[in-house]
Amino acid sequence: MRTLTVALSLSLTLGLTACSGSGGVHAASGGAGVGDPYFPKSGNGGYDVTHYDLTLAYAPDASDTSDTPDTAPSLTATATVTARATTPLSTFDLDFQGMKVNSLTVDGKKASWTRSGQELKVRPSAALRKGGTFRTTVHYSGTPETITDPDGSDEGWLPTADGALALGEPTGSMAWFPGNDHPSDKATYDITITVPKGLQAVSNGELRSETTTGTGAAPTTTYSWHTRQPMATYLATVAIGHYDITRTTTRNGLPVYVAVDPQEAAASRKVLGKLPEIMEWEEYNFGPYPFSSTGAIVDRGGDAGYALETQNRPFFPGAPDTATLVHELAHQWYGDSVTPKTWRDMWLNEGFATYAEWLWAEDHDGDTAQQTFDALYKGTYFDDKADDDAVWAFPPATPTSAAHISDSPVYERGAMVLHKIRRTVGDARFYDIIQGWAATHRHGNATTADFTAYVEKMAPGKDFTEIWKDWLYGHGKPARP
Ligand code: TRP
Ligand code: ZN
Repeated sequence: MRTLTVALSLSLTLGLTACSGSGGVHAASGGAGVGDPYFPKSGNGGYDVTHYDLTLAYAPDASDTSDTPDTAPSLTATATVTARATTPLSTFDLDFQGMKVNSLTVDGKKASWTRSGQELKVRPSAALRKGGTFRTTVHYSGTPETITDPDGSDEGWLPTADGALALGEPTGSMAWFPGNDHPSDKATYDITITVPKGLQAVSNGELRSETTTGTGAAPTTTYSWHTRQPMATYLATVAIGHYDITRTTTRNGLPVYVAVDPQEAAASRKVLGKLPEIMEWEEYNFGPYPFSSTGAIVDRGGDAGYALETQNRPFFPGAPDTATLVHELAHQWYGDSVTPKTWRDMWLNEGFATYAEWLWAEDHDGDTAQQTFDALYKGTYFDDKADDDAVWAFPPATPTSAAHISDSPVYERGAMVLHKIRRTVGDARFYDIIQGWAATHRHGNATTADFTAYVEKMAPGKDFTEIWKDWLYGHGKPARP
């Protein structure tokens, strides 16, 4: 009976539907979600995306949001998602929230689809075979949604004073393109954005071309960006508006593309001037930079409530300070290249990027990492006691819920775990560990268990039992610093 129940519910969740006569191949639904403990609907089963080709046309005036708007939709787009089936598929899901789907094909043939919440379920005209590559093309339009995170912050598509901004952590990419919206499925990207002439469109990777067409009433400029190293969906970005663009190269020839809202230019100049120096310091400490260009996007304060480590080109809401620039650039190694396998492993991003800030301060006449650690342990780090206490609210490795993945146990206490490791193994071995970690999982995904196993392998004979038990997985404030 028990066996029967299990088998039955399994076939129901997998939605075993088609069973082709030839060869007895059972094609099933790929299913919604990849089993993320914090975002169960994020991502989809049954396939791996290898490439996204996104072509977006943006029209600024979308103030008319009625059902029969007489203004153009703010976004008219085509997404071609190239993926490999990991199982025979009769249907599969894409994550896509809002917007209107106008037509959809799989390998050039019309496919039917249904929508429910963030799930766009696609039924190709014929089942897809395991191991085969297939291309899904979605034509869509409308005004993309702004999504509110479980923690209350806004992501997805954010209209700004002079354009719009796409930010995707943790689930915002599904507001502006259909895809496998989970950090475990990374892919390369071509993002092409057409905007009214006079506006700029900045994205990830390298700018391949910038073409202005039309001399009449509505000339446009098309910006084509190419991301050639794998990227998680949450790191994809588009920033449309007026920007001062600065293109330079670092001393070792890496292209730097910096876009700054003119209103933020004066306030940003000094800190952005340190970008090449920060890149060099991070390469020295973390190992070779994993991507083929760097830079930054600085918008007006208020356009978003937070900075984000968008790949190649971190985003800042207003002129950044040095610590924040160090933090977001450190994420290029820890987060963007070595990406968490699930949202539970978030401290692998934020603990590392926070520890990078401590190391920068230590190397640049600020507090030592030990002093920062001690202030946090003593509860004298933040301005108010509630913030100092919040550091101990939950273990870094297991945030309480999706609403808490960006709380201080993930950031500060995560950094404290790294400092504990450093004290246990000494500086030389510690830098070997953080560089080796970045090298071992370069352009991949990793879990907390991968990390603890890696540290143990790199420091034979050292005992990490207490660090893992009390600092990484333990509830409450550890008894000893
Ligand atoms: N990752 C960002 C940082 O650099 C912060 C952030 C923005 C964030 N949006 C988020 C963290 C959503 C978790 C979830 O610190
Ligand atoms: Zn961060």
